[in-house]
Amino acid sequence: MSIESVSPLVVLTGAGISAESGVPTFRGPEGLWRNHRPEDLASEQAFQTDPRLVWQFYAWRRSLVAECQPNLAHKLLADIENRLEQFCLITQNVDGLHQAAGSQRLIELHGSLWSFRCTSCGHRWENRQVPLPDDLPRCPMCLGLARPDVVWFDEALDPSRVQAAVSAAESASTMLVVGTSARVLPAAQLPLLAKRGGARLIEINPRSTPLSAQCDEVLHGPATKVLQLWVERFEP
Ligand code: OAD
Repeated sequence: MSIESVSPLVVLTGAGISAESGVPTFRGPEGLWRNHRPEDLASEQAFQTDPRLVWQFYAWRRSLVAECQPNLAHKLLADIENRLEQFCLITQNVDGLHQAAGSQRLIELHGSLWSFRCTSCGHRWENRQVPLPDDLPRCPMCLGLARPDVVWFDEALDPSRVQAAVSAAESASTMLVVGTSARVLPAAQLPLLAKRGGARLIEINPRSTPLSAQCDEVLHGPATKVLQLWVERFEP
């Protein structure tokens, strides 16, 4: 069978795809938030109250992720993208490991740890400095206070990214859902939109999720191993 048989392919990933790279997931037993209440740190409210504390938290996350490499699952998705004309990767992850693996047709629904945004003028820029200096980051254009360009718990997603993700999901013929607990909206709705549009849904996750019952195939196991087996179904 040719890999073209799954085209247009849309892939939705979550923290689980980066777990084997050493990035903690949000809700697993090793979850990122075990020692932190997320809403205490990842919110507009928290940033207004104590920007230094929030920046310390993000500096820690950046240092942690900077030590991690893309794993086989990230690389396989980049390979699949190279083989397909109609492909879209939608990720909830902010770690940048998909780009590091070579993915290009990528929608980062929740932003990126490696992007900053000015709270005054809205300017966005890339910043890869690790570790971050102690001084609060400032905008290179207007010297306004910078913030991480990620979506916080009390914030809405960027409407243009959501629209792009919805369009991709609606036109998918196959949707692979890899390593997400499928609990956070609107990302969790994308597979259902794809299904409504006639797509075949395939879930890759060691555990069942609220989405599992809707899927045409549920492949239990770690993303690296299961995705490799899935790719082997197709002609090289
Ligand atoms: P979660 O931490 O909620 O879920 C991680 C999922 O990965 C779970 O279903 C695990 O079973 C699965 N998993 C663990 N190890 C895996 C492996 N080796 N291979 C495949 N799957 C594995 O993470 P997300 O679903 O990404 O949002 O969470 C969604 C959003 O919740 C995040 O983007 C974040 C958080 O609030 C924001 O920060 C806006």
